Amino acid sequence: MSLHLSSRINTADTAYHDNQASMNQHVSRLSDNLAHATASPRHKKRALSVRERIDHLIDPFSPFLELSALAGKDLYEWDLRSGGIVCGIGVVSGQECMIIANDPTVKGGTYFPVTVKKHLRAQEIAANNRLPCLYLVDSGGAYLPEQAQVFPDVDGFGRIFYNQARMSADAIPQIAVVMGSCTAGGAYVPAMADVSIMVANQGTIFLAGPPLVKAATGELVSAEELGGADVHCRESGVADYYANSEEEALSIARQTVTSLNGPGFCPPTKEPLPPRYAHHELLGIIPAESRNAFDVREVIARLVDDSAFDEFKALYGTTLVCGFSYIDGYPVGIIANNGVLFSEAALKATHFIELCCQRHIPLLFLQNITGFMVGQKYEHQGIAKHGAKLVNAVACANIPKITVVIGGSHGAGNYAMCGRAYSPDFMFMWPNASISVMGGEQAALVLSQIKQDQFAAKGELMSSKELNTLQQTIRDKYNAESSAYYSSARLWDDGIIQPEDTRRVLALTLAITAKRVNQHTRFGVFRM
Ligand code: COA
Repeated sequence: MSLHLSSRINTADTAYHDNQASMNQHVSRLSDNLAHATASPRHKKRALSVRERIDHLIDPFSPFLELSALAGKDLYEWDLRSGGIVCGIGVVSGQECMIIANDPTVKGGTYFPVTVKKHLRAQEIAANNRLPCLYLVDSGGAYLPEQAQVFPDVDGFGRIFYNQARMSADAIPQIAVVMGSCTAGGAYVPAMADVSIMVANQGTIFLAGPPLVKAATGELVSAEELGGADVHCRESGVADYYANSEEEALSIARQTVTSLNGPGFCPPTKEPLPPRYAHHELLGIIPAESRNAFDVREVIARLVDDSAFDEFKALYGTTLVCGFSYIDGYPVGIIANNGVLFSEAALKATHFIELCCQRHIPLLFLQNITGFMVGQKYEHQGIAKHGAKLVNAVACANIPKITVVIGGSHGAGNYAMCGRAYSPDFMFMWPNASISVMGGEQAALVLSQIKQDQFAAKGELMSSKELNTLQQTIRDKYNAESSAYYSSARLWDDGIIQPEDTRRVLALTLAITAKRVNQHTRFGVFRM
């Protein structure tokens, strides 16, 4: 038995070319959107744009894994580029760090609900993976017109500082570089940090800015006199390091990371090998028509080292493919949809998750799922309890989990395949991916059937015009709301990635999670 997957894809086939043409459209739309979202104009008074700051901070030629670059897309009538904040994992002085950087050119770097959500998600990833946090602060604080959505709730603005305190208590370093305004609540980012660095004549920290001070007490004071670097580094002690420029501040931040005495990289356990098949062929695998089937092993063969895949129970529960492999030298257990979920598939994957937990092997879910099989026969066989076992195992598995949605993500299949509610450590979408409780067509049929029943109960009949209008409205709504862009704008995932970039992204995330200390898994009660 060969461990190496052999591809049956014929790149000369018409189907391959049709698929590729369709995927290329998705890819180019994504490129356009990313180019727009990551364009970082320079602020009128600042030396560097937000992304130039990050470039100065990270090690030369090292990767930056940007998260949720399309957050905030189309949420407002103006452009909330990247949600007004850039978050991602970069290597600083040889140490992987979470970088959270306000973009002062997007509404003064203020916090909208989605900005807060993105900041909190970045902190969550940092806390789970013990990544030092570097905050490049340049923000007017809460976006005041949306204060009700930003301020009071458990996952509001205040949670940022709570997280800083908890991470600091857990010895996860918190470093703030004050490059602009830190007003009101925002003042707590540097104030709660373990180390704060301030840029002279540019960074300010105060609980109330000059206009509010004037209104409250009548005192007239400039921003610099109220809370500039000279005040905080020489008098108040709110900041620790004084920098004469943005570049100098970022260089001090790099030095600070050097002094953390951190663990550095976790090397791979095996020598990395490229897949045997070209990664650009990933573009021709997913059918242009989403209803058509394909073999997910073709995707796996283009992601894993040497295309080697130790498939588990290959002959049983065949609509779910499970197996052990390596990506860039890091071990991974893969669970990938290959059709609708049946009871046997759920049982097989539950067994496989138990094995991965015992061996402390991270799980990769490749999602392309319409849901569990429906119908009398399957209900009688207990598909609900078998599916529940898989959901239980996914929820409780105390190992790193990474999800990539390569096609559809619908129904309870989303849960069983580690959708967002199951807290995967990272979750990415391909640009063709769609996510919704069910497909638009099915929703149109279900909802129009309910409406027709209501009419019938009153002894009335729905006209075919009314029926068509209702169904079309539902289809349009589902199509819009299930797009990867709709999802990413709201942070239902950590970003949309190009299929060809998947192996690189997975390798980075596996390297980040590899440092985790083994934790025991205790599963809930499996209904037998
Ligand atoms: N809430 C809502 N909108 C805000 C805001 C806030 N807290 N802070 C800034 N903005 C908006 C401005 O109205 C402006 O909007 P526009 O582009 O539609 O005109 C945009 O953000 C940029 O502000 P601007 O003042 O032109 O930019 P700047 O870079 O010169 O100054 C600040 C940025 C943050 C220093 C300055 O706007 C400021 O001091 N804001 C008030 C901060 C504050 O008091 N926050 C308390 C919140 S807890």
